[in-house]
Amino acid sequence: MHCIVRAVAFSRVAAVIGLVVAVSTSLPYDPAISQTRISYPSRPITVIVPFAKGGPTDVVARIVAVEMSKTLGQPVAIENVVGAGGTTATQRAARAEPDGYTLIVGHMGTHAAAVALYPNLGYRPDADFAPVALLSRMPVLVVARQHFPAADFGEFVSYVRGHTHLLNMAHAGVGSVSYASCTLLNHLLGIDPTGVPFNGTAPAMEALAAGQVDYMCDQIVNVVVPLRDGAVRAYVIASPQRDPALPTVPTAAEAGLPAFEVEAWNALFAPKGTPDWIVAMLNTAVVRALDQPEVRNPLIGLGGIVPSPDQRTPDALRARVQAELQKWGQVLKRSSH
Ligand code: MLT
Repeated sequence: MHCIVRAVAFSRVAAVIGLVVAVSTSLPYDPAISQTRISYPSRPITVIVPFAKGGPTDVVARIVAVEMSKTLGQPVAIENVVGAGGTTATQRAARAEPDGYTLIVGHMGTHAAAVALYPNLGYRPDADFAPVALLSRMPVLVVARQHFPAADFGEFVSYVRGHTHLLNMAHAGVGSVSYASCTLLNHLLGIDPTGVPFNGTAPAMEALAAGQVDYMCDQIVNVVVPLRDGAVRAYVIASPQRDPALPTVPTAAEAGLPAFEVEAWNALFAPKGTPDWIVAMLNTAVVRALDQPEVRNPLIGLGGIVPSPDQRTPDALRARVQAELQKWGQVLKRSSH
């Protein structure tokens, strides 16, 4: 066992050195920098998750972080920093030292919808970050408390339209995926519920399962288990097609609301100014992680979608943020009146 452990450790160190050599040989040689390159990462890396532990953002971050640390040879530690729909932590990450040791998992909310929701956001998703890699694509579902008085989406729509001011809708704060996606839903249905904010959709799901709130829009990795346990009910998935993890949940289009199409996503960002070669090392670590069964199996098992290779590059993430800023700027402008 002992010699096997040494061989595995050696192969991981070799992987990191190979990685550094690969990255450093592709850039002009500079003795001052090359020493830095060999020394990165020389200590644990912090990945900030802007929502409470156990929610979709946290679950994805932790699954990927474990595999990243094997490639980078240093712990990749998750730090949950909550508040204001994830924008508090994102502001902090935008101002962190661009040295590769403080990263953040952002998503469709913090790095797109939030711009349309906060006049003075305190950061620019496209200008204040160096995109590293997409971690997951994430279908969104409409879920309700177990005894919500609707057997299907048609009855859900009738009920919420008839009781719009008596409804409590949970979300993870203004700027979150759960807030942005249900803002679109509410606009399409012409309803105006009371929003009940939580520090993430893990606590929100606990409240929903306890019957303390009526419904919410949440990412599939946070829905599969409570749904299978019968603690909540799911009416539609806001994707063009059903998800293999929940094949009996119809799409919003099948249920008569094709305009309710939302795909969330989670991605890794570094502060603007992080050296390209560090971004490249981090991207390589994510790309390798996304090919491991330890990442793919739980992510897919919980209904998530693993990004394809072409979706994993920093440039692809940069383009995604730009497109989502456009989309959610228009969606939320329309939805706010
Ligand atoms: C959200 O935007 O709703 C968050 O992703 C929820 C969470 O991760 O807790």
